[in-house]
Amino acid sequence: MRFIITKNYGDMSKEAAKVFADEMAKPNCVFGLATGATVKGMYQEIIKMYKNHQLDFSKLITFNLDEYYPIHPNNENSYHFFMKEHLFRHVNICNHLVHIPNGLANDIEKECVSYDDKIAHFGGIDVQFLGIGRNGHIGFNEPNISFEARTHIVKLDSKTIEDNSRFFNSVEDVPKYAISMGIKTIMDAKKIILLASGAEKRDALYEMIYGKISPRLPASILQLHKDVTVIADQDAVARLDI
Ligand code: GLP
Repeated sequence: MRFIITKNYGDMSKEAAKVFADEMAKPNCVFGLATGATVKGMYQEIIKMYKNHQLDFSKLITFNLDEYYPIHPNNENSYHFFMKEHLFRHVNICNHLVHIPNGLANDIEKECVSYDDKIAHFGGIDVQFLGIGRNGHIGFNEPNISFEARTHIVKLDSKTIEDNSRFFNSVEDVPKYAISMGIKTIMDAKKIILLASGAEKRDALYEMIYGKISPRLPASILQLHKDVTVIADQDAVARLDI
C-alpha cells in the first residue's frame, strides 16, 4: 500500500485530481467512481483542470460504485444526481459511457448481474476511486458483508443511515437499501485509490491498515490488493505509524 499524506482536505483533493488526470491520460481507461463529501473536492479540481483544457473526457468509461435503492435519479440525494452535479455536467463525458446502478430497477437481481456483465464487457475497471465510511465500508459494502459478493443489494447499516442523513431532510428520508458493487468487483480493479479526510475517518483507516482482515471491517480486504494508494490528510492518518 502506498500513501500520499497531505496537510489538509484541499491538498488531498489536489493530489487526488493529479492522480485522476494521470490515469485518464492512459488509453481506453475504465474508471470506478465514488460519491460522498470526501471526493467532492477532487471533482472540483478536475473540473478546473478540464476548464484549463488539460483533460478530455470524451472516451472515458465510468462505473459508479453504488446507488441508493429505491431512489429516483432526479432525487437530489441520488448518486445519479450527485455525479451530474459534481462532475458530469461540467465536462465532455459521453452519457452512454457512464454507468450507475439503477435505483429504480424492478428486477434487482437482473440489474446487478447486468452491471457486472457491463464491467466485464469493457475489460474490467482500471482505476477504482474509493472513500471510506466511518464503519469501514467501501462502496456500500457494510460490516459483515461477504467478501465474495459482486454487485448486489445491501441493507444499509444504522451508522451509515445516520451519517448520510446529513444530506437528507431527516434520517427517515434516507433509503434503507442500496445497490453496490461488491467487494469482489472492487478487488478485481487493477488499481485502487482510496481517499480519506478528517478525524472521523481515523479509526476506520487504522483498522483498514493494521486490523485483522475481516468482513467486520470491509475495507480491511484492501490489505490483500496489490496496487492500493491511500491519499489522506494528516487528520485522517494521525493514528498511523507512517
Ligand atoms: C457513502 C458512500 C461511499 C463513501 C462513504 C464515505 O455512504 N456510499 O462510497 O465513500 O459513504 O462518505 P463521505 O465521503 O461523505 O464521508
